[in-house]
Amino acid sequence: MNIVIFGPPGAGKGTQSSFLINNYNLFQLSTGDLLREELKSGSSLAKEIEGLMNAGKLVSDEIINNLIEKKISDKKIQNQIIFDGFPRNLDQAKTLDSLLLKYNQKISVVLNLKVDYSILVKRISGRVSCSVCKKTFNEFFDPPTECEKSECKNRSLTRRSDDNEETVTKRLNTYDEQTLPILGHYNEMNLVKDVDAMQDISNVSEQISNIIRGL
Ligand code: AP5
Repeated sequence: MNIVIFGPPGAGKGTQSSFLINNYNLFQLSTGDLLREELKSGSSLAKEIEGLMNAGKLVSDEIINNLIEKKISDKKIQNQIIFDGFPRNLDQAKTLDSLLLKYNQKISVVLNLKVDYSILVKRISGRVSCSVCKKTFNEFFDPPTECEKSECKNRSLTRRSDDNEETVTKRLNTYDEQTLPILGHYNEMNLVKDVDAMQDISNVSEQISNIIRGL
């Protein structure tokens, strides 16, 4: 089962990916996380990526597609992938279609996390993550608790540099203009299942479980 988890910034894609990993033996392929890893290298490419991310713009398809093919071709995670934050425009969606065909896989479902934009700034501005295991919490909706791993004992709680109101507004514009049109592509393939992502985290997970049960 390969799943595309779809929705605007702050809809809960990462949060529900963790639920899917823990309950369905799946692997998360988050292009945002892969890019944040790349930033640590401090290379000139990393500087270019950081500038685009902080401006709320998309990183080039060429960079993204290279990252993606390495993962899709990995036999250890074949047909067990959650695509989180990818595809992000129609060209990426078409690239994903051809890569899946090339590696003999397919998308089982596109989970469309539907949420009012009015709540997103609060969700994103309240987001904090463990500096060690990267578990995500929310100061307003999901207050930080101790992490399960003992390595996290001396953790700090970190914020992403693109999680400020100004950048979030730009990220939402980019989503509307470039990412949302992908839904039409997946609707034509009959793959889209809507999820009411305004509900609390466990209720959203339950809706997702019900959808998976019905596949
Ligand atoms: P990326 O890292 O993918 O960010 P995003 O899509 O903007 O999504 P977020 O990670 O902000 O939100 P989420 O939906 O995962 O929400 P979360 O679960 O954390 O991309 C960042 C940037 O990288 C892009 O802007 C772009 O520049 C670049 N990029 C990435 N992929 C790219 C690609 N394919 N092509 C080109 N460029 C790319 O939840 C948010 C908060 O809300 C958390 O605190 C959580 O605890 C809380 N929360 C979650 N669910 C609920 C709920 N139901 N109720 C209350 N609170 C909730």
